[in-house]
Amino acid sequence: MNIVVVGAQWGDEGKGKLIDILSKDVDITVRYQGGSNAGHTVIVGSEQYVFHLLPSAVLRDGKVCVIGNGVVIDPKALLEEIDGLRKRGINVSADKLKIAVNSHVVMPYHRILDGLRERMREHKIGTTGRGIGPCYADKVTRCGIRMVDLLNPRVFADKLKDNLHEKNEYFKKVFNQKGFSFDEIYDEYTGYAKRLKPYVCDTALYLNGAIAAKKEILFEGAQGSFLDIDFGTYPYVTSSNTIVGGVTSGSGVPPTRIDKIIAAVKAYTTRVGEGPFPTEFDVRMDNEIRTKGKEFGSTTGRARRCGWFDSVLIRYAAVVGGFDELAIMKLDVLDELKSIQLCTAYRYKGKTFKDFPHDYEVVCNAKPVYEEMPGWQQPIGNIREFKKLPREARDYINKMEELVGVPIKYVSIGSERDAIIMR
Ligand code: IMO
Ligand code: MG
Repeated sequence: MNIVVVGAQWGDEGKGKLIDILSKDVDITVRYQGGSNAGHTVIVGSEQYVFHLLPSAVLRDGKVCVIGNGVVIDPKALLEEIDGLRKRGINVSADKLKIAVNSHVVMPYHRILDGLRERMREHKIGTTGRGIGPCYADKVTRCGIRMVDLLNPRVFADKLKDNLHEKNEYFKKVFNQKGFSFDEIYDEYTGYAKRLKPYVCDTALYLNGAIAAKKEILFEGAQGSFLDIDFGTYPYVTSSNTIVGGVTSGSGVPPTRIDKIIAAVKAYTTRVGEGPFPTEFDVRMDNEIRTKGKEFGSTTGRARRCGWFDSVLIRYAAVVGGFDELAIMKLDVLDELKSIQLCTAYRYKGKTFKDFPHDYEVVCNAKPVYEEMPGWQQPIGNIREFKKLPREARDYINKMEELVGVPIKYVSIGSERDAIIMR
């Protein structure tokens, strides 16, 4: 069975933990979009790991991890991750990690441009500053540098020269910056190429061959459905297709080979960075949930904005994402609440919106319509069976299921590996 895990909200839904659990039963785990803007946390015993580019299954012995062509790879960040794991006793060999020959490479000018563009913008996006947008932009404008280009010194030199020719003018004239030295970037990146070469291959051929050989694959989505470049809260989104559609273009595995789509859904909502957020808490609740849920970005350390569960979002994500099952994450964070609100629709200028409205004015000003439910007000972290959850917690889960219309198969009630209830 080939399974996709995607985030249904604005990222940070707990995909890392879910992937870590599900990867136990598959052969290969694949990242297919995004880059080092992602931060996927896996906790094993007293050890915490945060993955940005490596698939979260890298901790499991005998499993293969693939970084597909749809990912934008910052080689410096990737090598830091590989070296960091080696220091902790985990060796990422070429048998274990495969990198797509046609993935695009994040260059120093992408990272700098990400920051400069943000600074110039009146309406900031609040990017992670990892050069993601500029790298995807170069891919689409056809001046990007791919892994395969990096491995061929002549091709790399040629493409880098061409890029710097244009980009240095732009940096000087628009941003009053001095521009980049060809030699410095060339030397730095040919060094990375030497180290990454053993991992690089045609991962589309590898994955389709593996499927033909009856191997099972898990696709690890990064970010969330409302950060999708097409369906998210544009322009407050990331630069890739985070919905399930990204799997096929980002890995070369055809849609007919996907058997199941599982969405990670936080039991409440968070968002890091700017952009509309209809169910955002007031300051007091925001602080309370942020502290309880440790809602600080695992990539940038920024405080995440927190809010109530919003079924308008998830319903829409379920449509464009074809969700088969939901995994409700971090339910235990709500343990102490006396009452809990669920957003069922939005209201704006006398109109009710049950479907997610794309009009920027509406999303920014819409007032959520809430349904209130009593909290369970007791710790649930040690429970491992659905029927042993307090009635109020079960009711809350059933309500979410009813509002979204997709079965809830997993409920996470803590950060450790085994803190999960399968239904
Ligand atoms: P995971 O995979 C949450 C957000 C940024 C910003 C917007 C654009 O851990 O869920 P970018 O650097 O991608 O151009 O920033 O997207 N963002 C994320 N938010 N989780 C993530 O990844 C994110 N990756 C990007 O905060 O609002
Ligand atoms: Mg994250």
